[in-house]
Amino acid sequence: MSDIVLELKDVNKIFGKGDTRVHALNNVSFSVRRGELLLIVGSSGSGKSTLLNMIGLLDRPTNGQVIIDGTNTTKLSDNKISEFRNSKLGFIFQFSNLMADLSILENVMLPRSIQGTTKNSEKEAIELLRAVGLESQMQKRANKVSGGQAQRAAIARGLVNHPTIVLADEPTGNLDSVTAETIVQLMKSMAKKLNQTFVIVTHDRHQFGEVDRIITIKDGRAFEGEDVPSKMELTT
Ligand SMILES: Nc1ncnc2c1ncn2[C@@H]1O[C@H](COP(=O)(O)OP(=O)(O)OP(=O)(O)O)[C@@H](O)[C@H]1O
Ligand SMILES: [Mg+2]
Repeated sequence: MSDIVLELKDVNKIFGKGDTRVHALNNVSFSVRRGELLLIVGSSGSGKSTLLNMIGLLDRPTNGQVIIDGTNTTKLSDNKISEFRNSKLGFIFQFSNLMADLSILENVMLPRSIQGTTKNSEKEAIELLRAVGLESQMQKRANKVSGGQAQRAAIARGLVNHPTIVLADEPTGNLDSVTAETIVQLMKSMAKKLNQTFVIVTHDRHQFGEVDRIITIKDGRAFEGEDVPSKMELTT
């Protein structure tokens, strides 16, 4: 199995036409290894969510390739893309997006039911809930737990399908700084423990401390590391 789980090749995304045209991603190319925790940072409107939506197969690039686990997803039909997304990707959102009327445990098992792989799903969901420190809360309804607990459940839910990549867009954006810190540490420890790739968009790089890798997006272009060139040649 290749060590590279994600490859972007000259990805461009253009929204709108004429006066309203926005070149949201401009020739973005990089690859990510198994087990890597990658932060995507950049100012508001730089293209971070657009990039995450391309990697998450929630939207298609205007051109370029998104290769996940060796599959060039740009060639897949819409049906195949959904199937592929459910089996290969896990998602953590800013708001935990749990189903309010289901228990924590049922929420964590949900991606498995959707995928139709229910064998051992309860056992594995409970193991994950233990790993995120929620074992004692798993029978509670999702609307009866705290924001931090809900986000822990969302992390367990994001991992339950053994995804190739877990994607998170501002996963701590809705939490106070102390709770955010524990959620950050949890994602970092799960990345190490499970050799799980995480791609995380954040506006608060410092919350994360030391991480494997950072990519900065500026005006739709991707730069390795935290320092972007100060004089941008935007005309090319
Ligand atoms: N569906 C859309 N239609 C038109 N323009 C869009 C669409 N989605 C994003 N854009 C534009 O693309 C650019 C990048 O937006 P994006 O949401 O990726 O930024 P971001 O880095 O995630 O910002 P923030 O930190 O505020 O979430 C912006 O100029 C935005 O207005
Ligand atoms: Mg965004």
